[in-house]
Amino acid sequence: MAIKNSEQIDYWNGEVGQKWVRQADRLDALLEPFADAVLQAASLKEDEYVLDVGCGAGALTLKAAFQVGDRHGALGVDVSRPLLSLADRRAAERDALPPRLKRPTPLSSGPSDLSML
Ligand SMILES: C[S@@+](CC[C@H](N)C(=O)[O-])C[C@H]1O[C@@H](n2cnc3c(N)ncnc32)[C@H](O)[C@@H]1O
Repeated sequence: MAIKNSEQIDYWNGEVGQKWVRQADRLDALLEPFADAVLQAASLKEDEYVLDVGCGAGALTLKAAFQVGDRHGALGVDVSRPLLSLADRRAAERDALPPRLKRPTPLSSGPSDLSML
């Protein structure tokens, strides 16, 4: 069954996206073992650059950003405005923490070292 991109955009910007935001902490806790398995398999190195496509509220993106450090960081992209808004708030909160937890920064050109889909 094919799912149109526009349907996904509507879906994740509607009630489902809002619900995911409301339950983000619980969902992150539920998904954390999978996020950790992805990061363990990737064995990221400092200074690598990560692209997280479909980052949602950014839990995995921020973990990856912490691992690679500030030089390139991790960029999360998503079609859901409510989820990206929460991801952005979370990233901004990390600015108050030690430098390695800074907001993920985009890389203007070149390939990423790891793309998570
Ligand atoms: C099941 S959620 C997972 C979110 C996140 N990766 C996590 O593990 O918490 C799927 C995410 O994919 C995003 N998504 C769906 N279609 C997309 C597309 N074409 N491009 C980018 N993101 C997309 C949704 O908006 C949603 O945030």
